This record gives sequence, C-alpha cells and structure tokens, in this order.
Amino acid sequence: MIDDMLRTPGAVRDAERWTAHNYHPLPVVISSAEGAWLTDVDGKRYLDCLAGYSALNFGHRHPQLIAAAHAQLDRLTLTSRAFIHDQFADFCRELAELCGKDLVLPMNTGAEAVETGIKVARKWGYQVKGVPAGQATIVVADGNFHGRTTTIVSFSTDEDARADFGPYTPGFKIVPYGDLDALAAAIDENTVAVLLEPIQGEQGVVVPPEGYLPGVRQVCTERDVLFIADEIQSGLGRTGATFACDHEGVVPDMYLLGKALGGGIVPVSAVAANADVLGVLKPGQHGSTFGGNPLACAVAVEVVRLLATGEFQRRSAELGERLRAGLEGLVGKGLVGVRVRGLWAGVDIDPALMSGREACERLMERGVLAKDTHGSTIRLAPPLVITEKEIDLAVAALAEVLAA
Ligand SMILES: Cc1ncc(COP(=O)(O)O)c(C=O)c1O
Repeated sequence: MIDDMLRTPGAVRDAERWTAHNYHPLPVVISSAEGAWLTDVDGKRYLDCLAGYSALNFGHRHPQLIAAAHAQLDRLTLTSRAFIHDQFADFCRELAELCGKDLVLPMNTGAEAVETGIKVARKWGYQVKGVPAGQATIVVADGNFHGRTTTIVSFSTDEDARADFGPYTPGFKIVPYGDLDALAAAIDENTVAVLLEPIQGEQGVVVPPEGYLPGVRQVCTERDVLFIADEIQSGLGRTGATFACDHEGVVPDMYLLGKALGGGIVPVSAVAANADVLGVLKPGQHGSTFGGNPLACAVAVEVVRLLATGEFQRRSAELGERLRAGLEGLVGKGLVGVRVRGLWAGVDIDPALMSGREACERLMERGVLAKDTHGSTIRLAPPLVITEKEIDLAVAALAEVLAA
C-alpha cells in the first residue's frame, strides 16, 4: 500500500491534536488484538512485547475472561459498596486464598492500591504500634515507581515524575535499592512500613541482590515494621511465580496488586493482608465508588482462577528461560546488559548504538512492539500466552535492529 493510502498518519495526528502530551507513544494506532498479537488500522500485525505494562498477562481477549465480562455486562455492572453484590465474596475469598492472606480490599488503579497501603500502614502505626500522632515514616527505595498521585510522586527519585508537583507529602525516607544496611539504618521507632517493588519494573527490570528481600523481611519483623510489596507489575505470573517475592520464599505483610488483576479488561487493584493489619480500617475511613464493582469482580475472579491452575506461572518460568538464552546471546552484539525473570526482561542497549526509543521504533518497523525506559534500556514483557516461536521472532527482530 502506498503511504498516502495509509490510515495511520492521520490517526496519529488526530490523537495528538486532542490530548495532553503526557505520553510519547510510538506512531502506531491499534484497532484489534488477540492473544499476543495486535493489528493496526492499516491491517499490519505486531507482536505485543509490552502487554499493557503487564496488565495483559493472559493475552488480549482471553476467552475465559471475555466470557465472564460479557455475562456480567448482561446482568449487573455497578452497585457501589453501599450495597453488597453477588460477585464480591467469591472474588475477595479467592484472591485472599491466592495471596495466603485473611482479607482483601479492592480498588481500581495501581496507584490507588499504593495509596491504600500507605494509609493502612499509617493507621496501623498509630493504632497498633503506638507511633505518636503525625510522626509515621515509611522507608522506600530510590528508582522506585509506585504511580502518579501527588503523595506517590513525593517519594519518587525520577525528576520527570516529580518536578513541579510540590508541595510534597512528608513522611518518606528514600534509601538505595538493594542496600539492606541502608534500609535497616533508616528504620526508627516511628517507622511503620517499608514499601518496595520486589523487582523494579519501570527502572528497567532491576532485580535486587539475592538475599535482599529475605533480609528486608527479617528486619521488618525484628523492628515491628510492615513489609509492603508492590507486586502491581511483578506479580500475578509475570516472573514465573505468582509473586516475585516467591522466588526468595518471602511473604510480605501486604501485597499491592493491580494491572493483570483486571485481565486487560477493567482496572482492578487490591491490597491483601491479614486481619491484624487491614482490620484497622473501619466504615467511612477509606473507599472508592468503583472499587470491587460487579464487572471488576466477575473478571478478576476468573483471573485468580487462571492463576490458581499454576499454568501461567509455569509458562512464564519455562518460556522465560528461552527468552533469557536468546537475549544473552546478543550481549556483546549490541547489548551491554540483560536481566530476565520469567517473561520479563530489561535489555540495556549499547548507548553508542541507539537510544531505547530508537530501538523500539525500529522494532516496530519489524512488527514487534516494546517500550523503552531510562535512556538505552528497553523492557520486554510479552503476554504469558506467547509461544516459543514468537519469542524467537522477537529476539530475531532485536538482533536485526542491533545489527542494522
Ligand atoms: C510497581 C508499580 N506500582 C504501581 C503502579 C501504578 O499503577 P497504575 O498506573 O495502575 O496507577 C505501576 C504502574 O506502572 C507499577 O509498575
């Protein structure tokens, strides 16, 4: 097709014309998708190697999830939490069981789950630990990404995410990620929680040193501090286990979940914790109009059932080894570093060759969609339904981009 017959350039222009420019998307306009594949308005197909930042762990339009959504759309979509609906209990119970926790508090976006975790930890600190009013602190790591609210960006170390959004929320101490001594030193009698990503996704799939997470668990237990694991991107099968914490046998006090919990259909997030922690919230103290709505619960309970089979965690672990082998083969051939956990890879391109953005543009030309982060790093996070052949295709496309 000759260029002036393509719909993409006009569709890109239209999208840019009417939106705030808080994103810099690749110039591709998607109109349909299935499994690991996307199709644009001109009929060109792309292998999805981002999976909606892991919101699409089960692929696009997974039949079981779509069927659940359709069935629920025809019955009941919203009640608010002022009333109980018939999808609520099963979702909360099955998610709590998957997490090995007593209780679940459903919200919508990841940032809301993080805010919920912060509020619960502070209230727990004042009511259970006995921290003096207004003195609670939470220890976080540099390089973190926990979302975009004003409180959350207050403890970001990314200037793009943070600058000019002050005044900032106090009460956070930032320590180097992976440094257990620094973390232990930052804890004092007013510390209520340590909030960490077990693997830092937005930072480029940064895996902390072995022993770090168990060390954090131990320090938190010894010092009467809650360990909050933000598994919004790392959880629900992405790394070859249900939770990234599982790789080191660590059980946090609070799981923050989101993204894949909504099956790529609806925004669903949740906090899971035991009753001695989540039980500090009483009626009227926290909530959300849409959190735990019938449509969300109907889809998310099917997500939990897919995960309860263990199949997706297994696929991610096994196929992740193939991805690792493929990517490691490119180190020295345009790549300077590779980090892989399950089907999640941070790939550092030699900055002398090209930026991450350029690499993603060239991958797009070859039918693979991925996302850059911080300079010359790109992330690969395909849907967990991807096949061996499709992984090979993605690696081959990257090899071509690096060799060109
Ligand atoms: C680890 C982590 N926490 C929280 C969030 C925020 O989630 P949301 O964009 O749904 O608010 C993200 C989003 O990328 C994330 O990766």
